[in-house]
Amino acid sequence: MAEQEGARAPQEHGFDAPYWQQHWQRAQGRPGEHRAVPNPHLVREVEGLAPGDALDAGCGEGGDALWLAGRGWRVVGADVSAEALARAAGRPGAGSVAWVRADLTTWDPGRRFDLVTTHYAHPAMPQLAFYGRLAGWVAPGGTLLVVGHLRGAGHGAGHGAGHGAGHGAGHGHPEGATVGVADVVARLDPAAWDVVTAEEHERDVTAPDGRQRRLHDAVVRAVRRS
Ligand SMILES: C[S@@+](CC[C@H](N)C(=O)[O-])C[C@H]1O[C@@H](n2cnc3c(N)ncnc32)[C@H](O)[C@@H]1O
Repeated sequence: MAEQEGARAPQEHGFDAPYWQQHWQRAQGRPGEHRAVPNPHLVREVEGLAPGDALDAGCGEGGDALWLAGRGWRVVGADVSAEALARAAGRPGAGSVAWVRADLTTWDPGRRFDLVTTHYAHPAMPQLAFYGRLAGWVAPGGTLLVVGHLRGAGHGAGHGAGHGAGHGAGHGHPEGATVGVADVVARLDPAAWDVVTAEEHERDVTAPDGRQRRLHDAVVRAVRRS
């Protein structure tokens, strides 16, 4: 979303459901709104795993959920925005994913998953607590993959790199929407989790306005031992 279109500056909003609905409504019609490629961290971290039941938490317009489904995963794509889910449901192959409108800060899936993955979702609750919720939905032996906006790496209000590769150019990421890799790892009980990946990444993407942006990502993959 572009700041000039919204009434609220990025550091002032709470990333609640109306905010995200507006985000997706404003993205409508913009070039690049359907990402052509899945998140590269998802591809790298998951392509070697045996498919099972997966949750894409904050799936947006569904490109990553669809990529997982194409690899044989049985995928639930959950998002708080009806607009995002409508866009996802309109994509080729959308019938291979179960799209669920849910506020993940309160939702109880009533089950566990072999993979819970989340890419740049930052809801109206503390980021690390949100990841803690997602971790609780991973089955024994299953995987948690967190891809977040890296704290302290060009993500100040008003000059952030945007939400993922395909949308959100010009949107700054206030500190509360960012994380440090070590902080995500520290959230996982070492008695229950094996951390496989804990990395910081930079990558350049083309934003909807056609300009190149640099994304700074925190990537953590962990396997639940028990
Ligand atoms: C920056 S977008 C990222 C979308 C997608 N994962 C991607 O990488 O392109 C963040 C997504 O998280 C969703 N989201 C934010 N808060 C949420 C919540 N409380 N429950 C469910 N989804 C939420 C938003 O609607 C939005 O689609």
